[in-house]
This record gives sequence, structure tokens and C-alpha cells, in this order.
Amino acid sequence: MAFLDITGVSKRFGGLMALSDVSLQVEKGEIFGLMGANGAGKTTLFSVIAGHVAPSAGEVVFNGTRLTGLSPSRICRLGLCRTFQIVRPFAGLTVAENLRVAALYGSGRKLSAVEIARVVDAALEAVDLSDRRHLDAAQLTLSGQKRLEIARALATGAQLVMLDEVMAGLNPTEVSAMLATLERLRGDHRLTFVIVEHVIGALMTLSDRILVLDHGECIAFGTPEEIGNHDRVAEVYFG
Ligand SMILES: Nc1ncnc2c1ncn2[C@@H]1O[C@H](COP(=O)(O)OP(=O)(O)OP(=O)(O)O)[C@@H](O)[C@H]1O
Ligand SMILES: [Mg+2]
Repeated sequence: MAFLDITGVSKRFGGLMALSDVSLQVEKGEIFGLMGANGAGKTTLFSVIAGHVAPSAGEVVFNGTRLTGLSPSRICRLGLCRTFQIVRPFAGLTVAENLRVAALYGSGRKLSAVEIARVVDAALEAVDLSDRRHLDAAQLTLSGQKRLEIARALATGAQLVMLDEVMAGLNPTEVSAMLATLERLRGDHRLTFVIVEHVIGALMTLSDRILVLDHGECIAFGTPEEIGNHDRVAEVYFG
């Protein structure tokens, strides 16, 4: 069975089908890209997987456990964590304190003070925020806040991290740096990622496989190269 196995997930908001019969399998250690125009259903799919939104149909199985009906905190403790499209660190807490909260409450393990300090240090290091650990989280640049979102996921001990537009609003230099960070995380920390990104170049570079959603339906699935040559994708994206 795949690490993350999504079968026939649909989500209806009133008269709108935000997701229609979506199925996908993510293997351990891969970077799985999710693509689609505004309103395609990408964030809704993340919300269903992470337990923030109940699906109208279908099921999600992570690492052998059925997630449907579980709370977001329970799902996080199973090792599956998401970042939010709109970053929301705890303002008034420092960068390191934000990570301490994640390590304390997100992991589901009882950690000693020494272990928590070690987890926080490792998360800071992993996203290159060590030098900004004492800064109020609200004072970070957007790029820094996106890194903090990733670090918070790491501090919970997540094995699979869903990243919702971590490149959005970053300048080209910051995008390159973020690409390098994510590649390193996959390599060194053996993490699995599902990423949503409008920065198509970055998505193509990072992803092993990509699924394209359009109005809640899967319209294409394949390697970045296959997606780049896909007629229907070109039509949806470029008219
Ligand atoms: N809580 C909600 N209630 C009603 N409709 C919703 C809700 N959340 C999302 N939608 C609708 O579902 C559709 C899919 O939204 P979603 O946010 O998943 O798209 P997206 O692919 O993440 O778009 P974007 O690229 O703009 O972030 C949209 O039409 C949106 O308006
Ligand atoms: Mg979205």
C-alpha cells in the first residue's frame, strides 16, 4: 500500500463540487506535485487529508491508518502535517518559541526539555532560520515566515508534509533557496512532500509526479515531462 492513499474523495460545498472522485497515491520519499488553476480544489484536498474538512465521499489512508473522521491534531500526531497558504505563526512568540509549541503539542510524544531543545534546533537548522531564532515570528520576512511554517511541521515530527504555496510571493532568489532547502529536506530527513505551487517552474523541478486538478476533477497525472506535454493541461493553463 502507498504511504498516502486517497481513494474516490469528493467534497461538495452546497451546489459546488470542489472535489470530484479524486484518487492518488503518494509513495514514501517522493515529492508529489498538485497543480491546478485558482479554485481547482487544491487547498480543499489538503484540508480533507489533514482533517480540517470532512469529505462528502471517499477515504484517506496514511501509513496504513484510515484518517477519515480523525481530528487534525490526531492526524498530525500520526505524522502527517500541512502548512497553510496564508501563513499564521504565533505573533508575540519568537521563532524558536513557535517551534517549541509545535514540538510540545504536535508530536504526540512526551519529550523532555532537552529533547524539545534538540528538536527545535534541528528544525531551525533544517530551514536555515538558526540565526533568527530570537526574532519575534511576526518580524520575519514572508520568506522567513514560510520557512517557519515548514519548520513547525518538522518540529511535530511529521513524516509527510503538505506544502500549500510556499513559493508564493517570494522573489526568484528566495525561490531558488527554497528549492534547495526542500531538496535537502527530502534527502537528509527522508521526508515525503505533497506540494501545491503556482510557480510552475519550481513545481516541475521538484516533483517526481504531478496530478492536475481542474474544477475539482483530475485531468492529468504523470511525470513533469508528461504534464508539460499534456494537451488538456496546456488548454486549461494557456487557453
Ligand atoms: N469552506 C468553503 N465553503 C464554500 N466553498 C468553498 C470553501 N472552501 C473552498 N470553497 C470553494 O471550493 C473551490 C475550491 O477551492 P480551493 O481553495 O480548494 O481552490 P485552490 O485550488 O486551492 O485555489 P487557489 O489556487 O486559489 O488557492 C472554490 O470554488 C472555492 O470557492
Ligand atoms: Mg489554495
